[in-house]
Amino acid sequence: MKKLLQFTLMALLVGLFSCAKEPLKPILSGEIWPDNEGVHVNAHGGGVIYHDGTYYWFGEHKSPNTSSALVGVMCYSSKNLTDWTNMGVALAVEEDESSDIVRGSIIERPKVIYNEKTKKFVMWFHLELKGKGYSAARAGVAVSDKPEGPYKFIRSGRVNPGIAPYDMDEQAQAEMAALDAKKYEKWWTPEWYEAIDKGLLLKRDMPGGQMSRDMTLYVDDDGKAYHIFSSEENLTLHIAELSDDYLSHTGKYARMAPAGHNEAPAIFKKDGTYWMITSGCTGWDPNEARMHSAPSIMGPWTKHPNPCVGPKAEITFGGQSTYILKVPGKKDAFIFMADIWRPKHPIDARYIWLPIQFKEDGTPVVEWMDSWTLDWFDQK
Ligand code: GAL
Repeated sequence: MKKLLQFTLMALLVGLFSCAKEPLKPILSGEIWPDNEGVHVNAHGGGVIYHDGTYYWFGEHKSPNTSSALVGVMCYSSKNLTDWTNMGVALAVEEDESSDIVRGSIIERPKVIYNEKTKKFVMWFHLELKGKGYSAARAGVAVSDKPEGPYKFIRSGRVNPGIAPYDMDEQAQAEMAALDAKKYEKWWTPEWYEAIDKGLLLKRDMPGGQMSRDMTLYVDDDGKAYHIFSSEENLTLHIAELSDDYLSHTGKYARMAPAGHNEAPAIFKKDGTYWMITSGCTGWDPNEARMHSAPSIMGPWTKHPNPCVGPKAEITFGGQSTYILKVPGKKDAFIFMADIWRPKHPIDARYIWLPIQFKEDGTPVVEWMDSWTLDWFDQK
């Protein structure tokens, strides 16, 4: 009888435990985020995609003493956005000194998108050639059959050579052609602003293609994908349409905020409005986030005040935007992702993930939270 009682009790307990949902783990921005091996996630300047029930986080592998790429782009996977399994190197640096992505080059802000038509995963990233500082300003592209890789490097280069923005008419193109660079050597004067707006640097870079540094990718509802990057000496963002296979640019592109000095673009769409959060240009040091909205991805873009609220809101909580993740299966659920850089000890850089809130008029707000769980989105 005692045995039977014990058995029933055990069975009840087992049943209870298997029914009870595991409590959600908190998201603690700025802390160490241990992966499945207890090691701080090493995926900086990254982005997250959701594919077949799993999240994949891609980002720059950083080393203890350098921000240059010694390893490549890392991939982590998760079912719940808090338990991350190290899937290894998605795009590996190459040993061949003649390769664009040789060990010691700079590989930054990798983003991956899935192409429904080709069933391939496409990675774009900012590439700087080894030993050339930040002068190359190239975009790199790589492709894989599986989300976690290995990704095969295809090529790198400047973007859209010889092509004017889609909305620059013949007269504007003639005005750009007439600009004389020698007249505008002094930056930030009213004349210089006007010349940048008219395409001073666009014209300079026409032959070899436009510069491409900080970047993100966005796939719209119609399946068209866009590569959004800091161009024209980081003064102007370009929003460039990608080809159907996402492996090249179609030549259609718009410019956003000429001479606005925007970096670190992150974008999402809600109720037909595109929202873009960016940073200013102060290298690894944090600065005040900017926000822009548009009725179409090609613009026109309107500037809004800093969306951040809370301690250190005037320096993006010490971070710099990298991506905005739309959480599938939840209404209007978006996570703002940013990096707290540690240039002296790059591997120790931290992550900021915060839910995006919306004011009554629909304007996004990013409020600091020491700790939050994903069910925050269900309680709104
Ligand atoms: C930041 C940029 C980073 C990295 C860094 C280098 O402004 O967002 O991705 O390029 O500059 O100083």
